[in-house]
Amino acid sequence: MTQPVNRRGRATVQVLANAASAAARAAELFVESAAGAITARRRFNVALAGGATPRAMYTLLADKTHFDVDWPHVGVFFTDERCVPPDDQASNYRMAAEALLGHVNVCPNCVHRMEGEHGAAAAAGRYESVLRDHFADDNDRFDFVLLGMGADGHTASLFPGTEGLQVTDARCHGNPVPALGTERVTLTYRSINAARRIVFLVTGSAKAVTLCKVLTGPVEVERLPAQGIRPTDGDLFWVVDDEAAASLPTAFRGERCEKGFSH
Ligand code: 6PG
Repeated sequence: MTQPVNRRGRATVQVLANAASAAARAAELFVESAAGAITARRRFNVALAGGATPRAMYTLLADKTHFDVDWPHVGVFFTDERCVPPDDQASNYRMAAEALLGHVNVCPNCVHRMEGEHGAAAAAGRYESVLRDHFADDNDRFDFVLLGMGADGHTASLFPGTEGLQVTDARCHGNPVPALGTERVTLTYRSINAARRIVFLVTGSAKAVTLCKVLTGPVEVERLPAQGIRPTDGDLFWVVDDEAAASLPTAFRGERCEKGFSH
């Protein structure tokens, strides 16, 4: 059920009982998008989020008995990356490789890592070429983008007040993040919002107040970058657990998904 979640257009908010069920719901949406894309275009191009939350979803997707994905037809990209080597504990690539990519028959040449170890600007420049090669024209776009949200309202590595929020002429950007004293490689709103489907997976009580501000508060993208995620003509899902939804007014809670997933 899609309903006007807020004054900023249409999104679907789905509230699950707990983080495991939310991960399973996001995995279901992934499988659904993959099947549709591969049937229609013989290809499914996905951008994976980093951080800690997606690990549970990736672990489920690695379980081929429950989640059937035609992995040889999948192109794997990333929404953002830290400026560390791929074997670093902080690497988003490492997390996805450990939880998912090392367990499925995705073709290695179809996994496109952001090479953050070369510094944000150089890595972003290289990734821009990768994206340009794969998405020859604007009609080519991600079929699925998975996003998380920080308690400060950032998503991907689009942090409050950073220059990456203003980038419109590139798909990827090397983004200085003064608040963290670092820099990150990130997809821009231009490439994320062009996607056919965008799914936020947000769980835990630490996100509750921010989630309420993002979905129901005044539009302040500089302060709450997750508000800048507005698909041009794709669909947008917020898959959240009860803890993250705790501050949401009932009207914004969308449909409550009771079906869990016992794994
Ligand atoms: C990253 C992510 C980032 C993440 C949020 C939430 O590189 O950290 O891409 O945008 O989604 O910070 O992170 P958690 O899932 O760890 O709360």
